Amino acid sequence: MRDATPTVIRREDYTAPAFWIRSVDLTFELDPAKTLVINRMQVERNEAVPPAPLRLHGEDLNLTRVLVNGESVSFRHEDGLLVIDSLQGVPPGPFLLEIRNTCCPEKNTRLSGLYTSGNGFFTQCEAEGFRRITYFLDRPDVMAVYTVTLRANKAAYPVLLSNGNLVEQGDLEDGLNGPRHYAKWHDPFPKPSYLFALVAADLVAREQHIRTRAGKNHLLQVWVRRGDLDKTEHAMQSLIASVVWDEARFKLALDLERFMIVAVEDFNMGAMENKGLNIFNTKYVLASPATATDENYAGIESVVGHEYFHNWTGNRITCRDWFQLSLKEGLTVFRDQEFSMDMSGSPAPEDGATPVIGARAVRRIEDVRRLREVQFPEDAGPMAHPVRPDSYVEINNFYTTTVYEKGAEVVRMMNTLVGREGFARGMSLYFERHDGQAVTCDDFAQAIADANPGSALARALAQFKRWYSQAGTPKLTARGRYDPPTRTYTLGLEQAAGRADALGQQPFVIPLAIGLVGRDGQALPLQLEDEPPTSATQRVLVLEEARSFFTFINVDSEPVPSLLRGFSAPVQLVDGLVDADLLVLLQHDPDPFNRWEAAQRLAMNRLLAVVRDGAPDELDAPFIAAMRSVLRHAELDPAFKELVLTLPSEAYIAEQLVPAPVDPQRIYAARRSMLAQLARALRADWEWAFDAHQIVGAYTPDPLSAGKRALANRALAMLCLDAAALGEAVWPGRAFQRFKDAGNMTDRLGALSALVNSNAELAEPALTRFHELFRHEALVIDNWFALQATAPETDGRVFERAKRLLRHPDFSLRNPNRARSLLQALCAGNPSAFHRADGAGYAFWADRVLELDAINPQLASRMARIADRWAQLDEPYRGAARAAVARVAAKADLSNDVREIVTHALES
Ligand code: BES
Ligand code: ZN
Repeated sequence: MRDATPTVIRREDYTAPAFWIRSVDLTFELDPAKTLVINRMQVERNEAVPPAPLRLHGEDLNLTRVLVNGESVSFRHEDGLLVIDSLQGVPPGPFLLEIRNTCCPEKNTRLSGLYTSGNGFFTQCEAEGFRRITYFLDRPDVMAVYTVTLRANKAAYPVLLSNGNLVEQGDLEDGLNGPRHYAKWHDPFPKPSYLFALVAADLVAREQHIRTRAGKNHLLQVWVRRGDLDKTEHAMQSLIASVVWDEARFKLALDLERFMIVAVEDFNMGAMENKGLNIFNTKYVLASPATATDENYAGIESVVGHEYFHNWTGNRITCRDWFQLSLKEGLTVFRDQEFSMDMSGSPAPEDGATPVIGARAVRRIEDVRRLREVQFPEDAGPMAHPVRPDSYVEINNFYTTTVYEKGAEVVRMMNTLVGREGFARGMSLYFERHDGQAVTCDDFAQAIADANPGSALARALAQFKRWYSQAGTPKLTARGRYDPPTRTYTLGLEQAAGRADALGQQPFVIPLAIGLVGRDGQALPLQLEDEPPTSATQRVLVLEEARSFFTFINVDSEPVPSLLRGFSAPVQLVDGLVDADLLVLLQHDPDPFNRWEAAQRLAMNRLLAVVRDGAPDELDAPFIAAMRSVLRHAELDPAFKELVLTLPSEAYIAEQLVPAPVDPQRIYAARRSMLAQLARALRADWEWAFDAHQIVGAYTPDPLSAGKRALANRALAMLCLDAAALGEAVWPGRAFQRFKDAGNMTDRLGALSALVNSNAELAEPALTRFHELFRHEALVIDNWFALQATAPETDGRVFERAKRLLRHPDFSLRNPNRARSLLQALCAGNPSAFHRADGAGYAFWADRVLELDAINPQLASRMARIADRWAQLDEPYRGAARAAVARVAAKADLSNDVREIVTHALES
């Protein structure tokens, strides 16, 4: 809502509700212009708290009737709440509250609550959308049993869905537009209102019956528009795999007779875990080899898994209040990450052992890369907050990478501290204690610790929980000293708060997985003083103090420390390793993550020298040789090679420069030059890589094939880049041919981006042809917009093109995917086009944020976050960016969503 002084909600102010709603009976007369909602609730006073009036949430509703036990009562409106004072003194025991209201789905451009998309009705209730459907105690600790009746025109809305089980359906008397029908659903599990969902549309389903270990039968359905059915196989396979995985890994079985996924084209987020009726952005459901890339396929698997896993971690046990969001999101991201790793084909290593270099390690590297590129900057910027925030204005602004990805790392650290089996025991105890409840992050951590008495987690639980309460990325500084006479190696470790304003922060519990690698490449046994000899070459040190020392004995020669293996804690490591050390790790580290990290560090050191110190940008032979040896390596996984040969992103380079002012154009130039040199110096190797990683036969999205395609496409991009520098036509010609002939979208888009990113002449005809081919495939057209908006800038042409694309007949701000495909791509995905010396990029950003805010504040607010880091920029960027943020902040009727973001940004 738009009010002048937005209210700040504080975690410490939590109080239990004054009333419980035990059950709800909802009837919907669905009409796009005016939907009638009849809401009958069984309510009772919460006798554990002092009597108070009943205050129901409601937003953008027309109230037509309020009855208590069938009698009308007086009520009033106060701060957007419906208040019934007379219920303050109601005797204990249930009473019936009936409310009738209408709402207008077709005008609901916020896509929160009940809205229309295409020709159907859909809902999105998390976090506070239910109050846009009817009056309610719209908070997650109020859990009710829902019975829902949908009534609608039969021809327009042949499919009527809600949570739980279908109990009745049939025809109704004709309406103005012809025959009508109804369906009645009942969900036996009490749930908070944010998990309510309904769908009424013209859809078809792919169906699959499965039998779980307990011998129960279940029906799985994936609902899509007619014509999309052939793109649902992968989503269905992913769903089946999710059901099987959760039972195998955590003994968590599907608890519903029917589990449905529905795809919708207009959706703010990726997907939503409504009980038994998950609603998904089409992007995370629809895939065919011709239209979806390997990345899209992997995205579907992980999002389907994520939402399915919420059925236990989120739905069966939910959050007491929204400050506990990471209870469900951090844990469920951890679970979907583990699922994707287990699905990648490589087996999980024993506790404490290093994984082999393969698809599993590749997934971990990708997860960490995202964490460091997005979460670390958030933790260093104006929107920094703990995994469990202390306050918010708009809860939608706290579905952040800190709550999600850092939250998942916190769960992962628990897993590391108690071991894989200990963690599974902890999960069982968590469900034993809290099934059916709305709980806090403390309850979760307590269960994991209690199931593992004697573990480092149990011993230091209170301190460990600082990960939930202290914001900022801790900095961990390591100094190693080898003493030849005593053959000892002493590792000194010091942790410090990462944020300058983090005064008074206490040390964290940091699980630090380490190994020592001999300069000959041998992994050395790790025997601490006072310990018996061991053959273990990896172990987890648990840091609890601000400073700690570990002395290893019987170390024959000076080792290279391999610290923070697998990225065992979300910290910024400063280990002082020099090039020679990093080259040893790149060649020999048995830990795949650190091996990759060594290459990234080698590249980063060179990039920073150029950007920060103005060093010449010529690449040295040892670096080139190291890259060549990875590319040509006989055993390494192609996907892993591709990751090693992908340079750190511009955003990540920028973060390494801070606190020095950031000049995005210098970063771009340095990175581009490094790419060009790698393209030239490894030309023959790229040619080999391209030829050697062709796949014959039908498309499958498995990790090995995807890895080969990724490496071949990377090679093609480098070859086109080099061709552009030399003015050659052969490789662009081959790329164009491949673009035309490609048997799958990964290769087609790979070839197209090779042309676009090297500014090849053939890029234009290819883009035109691509649009013609796919103009009816919305998700492909999203990629078409994004590709053009992320092309490397030359003379402002990409920026001009992006502005032109705003007026393209296919462009719309109303569809979130489409809006993101152009705007997010340009403003967040293309620093060289966005950060212009004349500030036009920032002005463009401000205009779009304001435009979007009037349509969809949640989406606008996510766009607004792009300017978070303006204060780190060098002039002339800084002044222009600040002016743009200030212009947005000056708008009088800004949403609370955007206001909260720009207010914080201006304070930085
Ligand atoms: N519960 C969220 C969806 C959501 C987020 C609803 C914010 C309302 C506001 C869902 O489980 C989720 O986390 N979805 C993610 C994808 C997931 C794989 C991390 C999303 O939509 O981005
Ligand atoms: Zn989630």
